[in-house]
Amino acid sequence: MSTNVYVTRRIPDESIRMLEDACDVVDVNPHDRALTRTEFLEAVQGRDGLLCLLTETVDDEVLDAAAGVKGVANYAVGFNNIDVDACTRRGIPVSNTPDVLTDTTADLAWALMFSVARRIVEGDRYVRDGKFKGWGPLMLLGDDLTGKTLGIVGGGRIGMATAARAVGFSMPVLYTSRNRHEDIEAIGAQYRSLDDLLQASDFVSIHVPLMSETTHLIGPRELNLMKSTAYLINTARGPIVDEKALVSALRNGIIAGAGLDVFEREPELEPGLADLDNAVIVPHVGSGTVATRIKMGNKAAINLIAMVKGEEPPDCVNPEWKQGR
Ligand code: DGY
Repeated sequence: MSTNVYVTRRIPDESIRMLEDACDVVDVNPHDRALTRTEFLEAVQGRDGLLCLLTETVDDEVLDAAAGVKGVANYAVGFNNIDVDACTRRGIPVSNTPDVLTDTTADLAWALMFSVARRIVEGDRYVRDGKFKGWGPLMLLGDDLTGKTLGIVGGGRIGMATAARAVGFSMPVLYTSRNRHEDIEAIGAQYRSLDDLLQASDFVSIHVPLMSETTHLIGPRELNLMKSTAYLINTARGPIVDEKALVSALRNGIIAGAGLDVFEREPELEPGLADLDNAVIVPHVGSGTVATRIKMGNKAAINLIAMVKGEEPPDCVNPEWKQGR
């Protein structure tokens, strides 16, 4: 039986070759941009499998257009772009790409902590603008990380990896999560309620998935609980933080700074955010290393190949899909 899959954006060649070896037709979005909704709805028609990104919303309308699709492989660990319940109701498995991007994303959380606290981006701009006229004792002073308290919001894989790196900087770690996690406690992290963590931490790093319960988890009230000397880091999903409230908090000294890889309405920014020197903002590159993007692509390909064969993918996020058939 002929198999036909669609990939919504160019991903590493190695992963495309894996799909080509296993499927009869592999079409890839030819543009160097995300598909428009109209293009996406058209492209999914008649496909056995879809490999999509967080830039595509997969909902009932898409599943209607892709009638007969046997599986949806997301090229990301987060899958808030997919209506998983709608897929399950139709007996369609959905997969993500866990584990392979854990360390890369944790590294970026740390890069953001250093960048914002040590004013790396400001310093770079200062030098390039020709303002550096020689060493000065009060020039571009930042804050130390060593010995400060790190608060991890979310005790999953990436939160754990971010916490583990704190040992090297002698930083006590607090964490908050829906459930207690033995593995993060085993490396010395202490459990706190969200409010207590916000009040006690010098760096707060967000590592929860985006769900209705975590949307605007950090809003004006939570920002006000943080120390005025503290930094907020978000490498998870933009809507977890109320970006308007964050801009106001950064502008008014409610907190010292923020390092953001994700935004509430990507790729748009809250007005005023880009004007703030105490915000370091990067374009959702948490998993963006060559090696990790290849691993993500290969994982997504392995998952999709299993699904088009009617099998459960190794990284299935809705194991109850079979009941929907
Ligand atoms: C993810 O995997 O969820 C990231 O946001 C993209 O790598």
